[in-house]
Amino acid sequence: MQIFHTIPEIRDFVRQARNGRRSVGLVPTMGCLHEGHLELMRRAGEQCAVVVVSIFVNPAQFGPHEDFANYPRDLERDVRMSGKAGVDAIFNPSVPEMYPEGFCTRVEVERITEKLCGRSRPGHFSGVATVVTKLFNIVKPDRAYFGQKDAQQALVIKRMAADLNLDLEVVTLPTVREPDGLAMSSRNRYLGSEERRAAVILYKSLQHAKELYRAGERDAAGLRRSVAAMIAAESLAAIDYVEIYSYPELEEVAEIRGPVLLALAVKIGRARLIDNIVLE
Ligand code: PAJ
Repeated sequence: MQIFHTIPEIRDFVRQARNGRRSVGLVPTMGCLHEGHLELMRRAGEQCAVVVVSIFVNPAQFGPHEDFANYPRDLERDVRMSGKAGVDAIFNPSVPEMYPEGFCTRVEVERITEKLCGRSRPGHFSGVATVVTKLFNIVKPDRAYFGQKDAQQALVIKRMAADLNLDLEVVTLPTVREPDGLAMSSRNRYLGSEERRAAVILYKSLQHAKELYRAGERDAAGLRRSVAAMIAAESLAAIDYVEIYSYPELEEVAEIRGPVLLALAVKIGRARLIDNIVLE
């Protein structure tokens, strides 16, 4: 496995792979890797001849009061884990490599970014869309891999790829969870032991919603209220949002008739955790 820190180096590596007519898969990450990331890498390895993982904590997608400075970074461990997952190259640029002086362009996906995390984190998805566009242009992958854990992000990238005629396939993979159901996340590291125990409420409330849905509940407001009440009963949890939208369009729904996304953002201690389920 090779590690590159500059754009010309990774471009050169990919160019050689392409000359050999080998397909390229890209897994964009912010590092501090866990089993969720590794699943994306393994799938990329099954579907592509060459797998590139980017590790870049992207300042453009963090708000001014968010955790950019404290976001966990552990490149050595990431390199070891990627190697074991069969990755061929890591692209780990510096901030000035990606955003040199004078940088002033942003990619803006409208409408579907105005709700859920887009509402709680203004500018977040434009930061994501911008960096992902740059990564796509640098690596020129045939396929790029994203997790359903960030369901809205995956939809934004798919929308952007379609709208801008990007010549690649966006693949989404299911959420990987801890044994107790907590969705794996680099931010789980922020949780103290009491908070870690409390954090399972996200998964439990989604499971509860699934049971209510299976039992015939079709009123979106009622379902939201049940989930919110369950989370509110956990004293360490503070709800950012509990919302239900049609899936994948992300339009308002009153009565659930087709597939819907039930999505949560909950603060526990200093960790803002998200999770979701598709009911269909
Ligand atoms: P990051 O949070 O590091 O996640 C990288 C990829 O791993 C994303 O596609 C995310 O959805 C996926 N992922 C994270 N946790 C997962 C889990 N438990 N199960 C399955 N997949 C999971 O998302 C980002 O980075 C950034 O926004 C990025 C796309 C890299 C742009 O900067």
